[in-house]
Amino acid sequence: MKKFSIVTLTFLAALVSIGTHAEESVWDWLLSFKRFKEVAPVINSTYKEECGSCHLAYPPGLLPSASWQKLLNKKALADHFGDSAELDEETRKELELYALDNAAEKSYYKRPRKIMASLGTDEAPLRITEIPYIREKHEDIPSEKIKGNKKVGSLSQCDKCHRQAQNASFDDDTVLIP
Ligand code: HEC
Ligand code: HEC
Repeated sequence: MKKFSIVTLTFLAALVSIGTHAEESVWDWLLSFKRFKEVAPVINSTYKEECGSCHLAYPPGLLPSASWQKLLNKKALADHFGDSAELDEETRKELELYALDNAAEKSYYKRPRKIMASLGTDEAPLRITEIPYIREKHEDIPSEKIKGNKKVGSLSQCDKCHRQAQNASFDDDTVLIP
């Protein structure tokens, strides 16, 4: 009887410790991994608005946090790929925090994990389109269908071809080059 209760107690203690210490997102992922095939959709409305006016509001899971750090500091935003994407400091901090919290290495979705696996440990590209995994997926598309195509313009314009990009889905079933 004594032995039994020790075993039971140990078991209960283990359950409690899993429940409190394990990262919730691991459990989310295990329980519903089908939903986690792609990348987490953008849920921050300020990010959607401020970062979605010139191009798709890229889901933060498409780049590691070291890349977001380089992109979203004050100085970098003043010269953002030749444009100004300056923000007031409060908004900038909010968007930076949102991107860092949801960066590729913190995600259990499939694309971010593939993105991290394709990058070297110190690699933090400024562009999603420079990530080897993303580059390889597009290397067979001739440039006249991208740069030479007025309806696309550049590979950075994900949503011109990926019809579900606004829902953070880049599956090849929903792609159509205009
Ligand atoms: C004023 C327009 C403008 C705004 C606002 C803007 N961007 Fe950009 N962004 C650009 C341009 C231009 C490029 C380069 C696109 C190209 O090469 O075709 C770019 C490229 C990028 C890229 C690299 C895309 C690639 O090629 O993989 C990232 C990442 C990015 N922007 C993130 C952001 C984030 C996050 C915000 C919000 C804080 C933001 N941008 C707001 C104009 C803008
Ligand atoms: C010119 C149109 C075009 C643009 C712009 C484009 N893609 Fe693609 N993308 C494609 C095509 C076509 C495929 C399918 C390639 C294949 O079937 O091998 C693809 C494949 C992919 C895949 C792999 C899909 C799968 O199911 O394996 C990912 C991820 C992806 N693209 C992400 C992006 C992201 C992120 C951007 C923007 C930074 C982007 N793409 C911009 C055309 C485009």
